[in-house]
Amino acid sequence: MREVVFETDRLELCVPCAADVDALAGYWGDPETMKYLGKNGDVWTREQVVQRVERGARYCVERGMTFWTVVEKASGMVIGQGGLVPIAFNGDEIELGYRFGKDHWGKGYATEVAQASAAYGFERLGVEELIAVCYAENEGSRAVLGKAGFVEQGMTDLYYDVRLMLFRMEKPVCEK
Ligand SMILES: CC(C)(COP(=O)(O)OP(=O)(O)OC[C@H]1O[C@@H](n2cnc3c(N)ncnc32)[C@H](O)[C@@H]1OP(=O)(O)O)[C@@H](O)C(=O)NCCC(=O)NCCS
Repeated sequence: MREVVFETDRLELCVPCAADVDALAGYWGDPETMKYLGKNGDVWTREQVVQRVERGARYCVERGMTFWTVVEKASGMVIGQGGLVPIAFNGDEIELGYRFGKDHWGKGYATEVAQASAAYGFERLGVEELIAVCYAENEGSRAVLGKAGFVEQGMTDLYYDVRLMLFRMEKPVCEK
């Protein structure tokens, strides 16, 4: 039984678990999906997915946040991951991120996850500011971040050993 942390209209965000590995290994083993993830767009092996699922579950316990497993309510399918982590899993700032299997793009799911995760961070975790990074060429991700309320800050070399576009969003005044 999956542990649901919070939900949106169409999605559940859940603690990562071993039952997610088959679906996620399929998604993160695809070069097109991984083009703008990580340093060289390398795909992940099943073993790497297992390790990341384990690390993700650990972060839920230690930090109350992670890239949660995203489940589509209508189908019960695992469709991707999204949420909040300390930037690059080791910094002080809190990063919002998301990624979905190709079959699940273009349905507004990334926007739904980004908005709900940001609200969870501000309202439930007491986060004051979120950051996000993406490749400048990743038009889809830039659009999602804009719709979620992030503001573009220019390019940065500070994270993940690559040049990325940096975004920030402060906690909305009405939620302070
Ligand atoms: C990028 C990604 C997260 C977008 O997810 P999605 O669920 O398709 O995004 P949404 O449906 O919420 O789209 C939000 C907006 O972005 C636009 N958009 C989405 N993908 C786009 C693309 N490839 N090019 C241009 N615009 C795009 C949509 O048209 C939509 O705009 P609209 O509301 O004005 O129509 C998804 O393609 C993905 O998982 N890609 C692989 C992993 C990845 O790159 N993750 C982000 C790393 S920073």
